[in-house]
Amino acid sequence: RARLAILLSGRGSNMLALLEATKTGILKNLAEVVVVFSNKPDAFGLEAAAALGCPVASLPSQGRKREAFDADAAALLQQYQPDLVVLAGYMRIISPAFIQPFAGRIVNIHPADTHQHQGLHAYEWAFDNKLPETKITVHLVDEGLDTGPILAQQTVDLRGADTLEEVERRGLAVEHELYARTLAELIKSKQNVMSSAAETSRSDE
Ligand code: GAR
Repeated sequence: RARLAILLSGRGSNMLALLEATKTGILKNLAEVVVVFSNKPDAFGLEAAAALGCPVASLPSQGRKREAFDADAAALLQQYQPDLVVLAGYMRIISPAFIQPFAGRIVNIHPADTHQHQGLHAYEWAFDNKLPETKITVHLVDEGLDTGPILAQQTVDLRGADTLEEVERRGLAVEHELYARTLAELIKSKQNVMSSAAETSRSDE
């Protein structure tokens, strides 16, 4: 099973949905959550994970230089030997010091089309601009801000959503389902690559 490290800074609703999916849902037998990590020691999501018996770790980022904090965070996470680092409301721009040890294995969810909107407050952006729809995006993380290769997108119908809360409610429901499904597909595709590599090396012998 793929070892997931989930990173968050706040509420943790995506983390909870993924944890649930590993126990009883689409990620069952495919993945396990080996740690939930936060740069905010008092993040609600960290408490929620701990209450469910999930290993948790934190390292305060406040007052630290980005590269130094990221190097420490990466070293801490490496102790858990994650196959995938899953950003779920991890509200930090991550630097090469963090990306390099996990290159190609960091995944993020963004509550908009990353070609149209990057960074924070994507639901406010959709609401303020009265968009009829928005597109939740799951993507691999590279060194830019929300620029990595897109793995999956799903449209959320926002027509008639007349409060920001309603926009978020509709969006999060899609996020929770799309993130688990996309990770399941990613893990299966990596397993296929690994097993066909094993086939090739066996037939070479
Ligand atoms: C989610 O909407 C996630 O897509 C967003 O933060 C929220 C976290 O909620 N992430 C970003 O905006 C990243 N740029 P959660 O803590 O309940 O999962």
